[in-house]
Amino acid sequence: MPTGKEDPKDIVQRDRVFYGRRRGRRLRAGMETLLETRLPELRVELPDTPGARLDPRRLFPPDTEEIWLEIGFGGGEHLAAQAEMNPRVGFIGSEPFMNGVASLIRHCEDRGLGNVRIYPDDVRDLLAVLPDGCLDRIAVLFADPWPKKRHHARRIIQHETIAEFHRLLKPGGELRLATDDMGYLRWMLARATANEGFRWLARGPQDWRVRPDDWPETRYEAKARAQGRRPAFMRFERLDTTG
Ligand SMILES: C[S@@+](CC[C@H](N)C(=O)[O-])C[C@H]1O[C@@H](n2cnc3c(N)ncnc32)[C@H](O)[C@@H]1O
Repeated sequence: MPTGKEDPKDIVQRDRVFYGRRRGRRLRAGMETLLETRLPELRVELPDTPGARLDPRRLFPPDTEEIWLEIGFGGGEHLAAQAEMNPRVGFIGSEPFMNGVASLIRHCEDRGLGNVRIYPDDVRDLLAVLPDGCLDRIAVLFADPWPKKRHHARRIIQHETIAEFHRLLKPGGELRLATDDMGYLRWMLARATANEGFRWLARGPQDWRVRPDDWPETRYEAKARAQGRRPAFMRFERLDTTG
């Protein structure tokens, strides 16, 4: 999570600036070893050729039924729990914070998961190389809210990102967003509902105030509740807008 102390010059990736931490407290030796030994096999590599696309189905066995992407998975608890509950789904998790990447790998090892791949960097570079309609679900859970107005441009949810999610999701696919910040909630809703290619699935307040059963808790959610904040959970259907 961003501390605001990083110098963006240190963290420029391609032409983007990532406003967040890549490293936190020193990793235990076992976690460093996991990163060294397991990340090379699990890592999603971007194509070298400019303009080339990355077909995510090629990252998983041929009998994989769906592909879900989780953006900013933090410690990876939600992603690992979903991957265990949905063994026929191929999961791609994106997270530039290496302590979180090591934590997800630990969860995958503990649970014996073979259906998780990791993009350990800024997801926007990955989104740009994925082909249209290649994903069945995208989750962005408790993304950094950047509450100060002058930082709103740093929020991951923008009109452009929602349009990119629409491009990447199959018709009938699902976008899941969660936040505990009321300002960011309004911002997310305004952007997702402004895109006519998405339909908010809530029929009443309980549908967004209560976390669905198939949506395991994240570490950040637990922290928010412990501090007295009330999270919101939003599900949007990607509509077929071709007809
Ligand atoms: C507030 S934390 C929430 C983590 C986790 N989803 C949870 O609920 O516990 C937001 C996470 O998003 C990650 N993040 C921020 N910008 C990102 C980006 N452009 N691509 C991928 N992850 C990003 C951060 O590194 C951080 O771990």
